[in-house]
Amino acid sequence: MPDASFQVWRGDASGGSLKNYQVPIEEGMVVLDAMHWIQGHLAPDLAVRWNCKAAKCGSCSAEVNGKPSLMCKTRLARLDTTKPITWKPIKAFPILKDIVADVKWNYEVNKKIPAFKPREGTDWKYTQAEADRVQEFRKCIECFLCQNVCHVLRDHGQMEKFGGPRFFVRVAGLEMHPLDDGDRTALLKDQLGIGLCNITKCCTEVCPEDIHITDNAIIPLKERVVDRFYDPILRIWRALTGNKKS
Ligand code: SF4
Ligand code: SF4
Ligand code: FES
Repeated sequence: MPDASFQVWRGDASGGSLKNYQVPIEEGMVVLDAMHWIQGHLAPDLAVRWNCKAAKCGSCSAEVNGKPSLMCKTRLARLDTTKPITWKPIKAFPILKDIVADVKWNYEVNKKIPAFKPREGTDWKYTQAEADRVQEFRKCIECFLCQNVCHVLRDHGQMEKFGGPRFFVRVAGLEMHPLDDGDRTALLKDQLGIGLCNITKCCTEVCPEDIHITDNAIIPLKERVVDRFYDPILRIWRALTGNKKS
């Protein structure tokens, strides 16, 4: 089979450039295999983060031909190998080295989210439909591809004011759990900045777990924030009944 030409970003936080590598293609190869071949034969110091090679650990996120992708899920057969394939780190986060970006900011955001708070006196029974609803959000593999494409982070760098789609998914999994008694709507409004999301759905398009981030997580959470802070009738109802989540 013919070779494929890879233009791989090499460098660190101080700068870098694309370097060209020729890789022999074999049937069934994914981009991560090409990375291993380059490491094994041409550039042993090439830095790439990966773990499972099964699209489940979320660590091999990169931009292949400009498209945010998991390297272990991107088949060479689906790319045009007659042209050079560009291979860059995800753009929204600082570069550590070569294809490895520094995503630790995400873990700091995660710490702001209060954990599951079980409702007191519950019998721990809930329906399959209720379980299915939150199960979708638990599929997240923390690849941060959604964070990478969100223009609020990628183009506007609003890390101080905005949590990003991955963390709206996490909050949705907690807030929509039938037995959770927490209330994270103030966090969504004030610290995670959900109002900055203008529902472009770019995050949903790149999610390798096919989580319907915008429709199933963000829009219902936005509705909860509006109900909680801007609906006068619901405010009176909550004051009278003490039901925080209505
Ligand atoms: S829908 Fe919202 S969170 Fe998702 S990419 Fe667009 S602005 Fe960002
Ligand atoms: S929601 Fe999807 S795109 Fe975002 S981090 Fe989780 S798995 Fe990745
Ligand atoms: S190596 Fe685990 S998701 Fe790609």
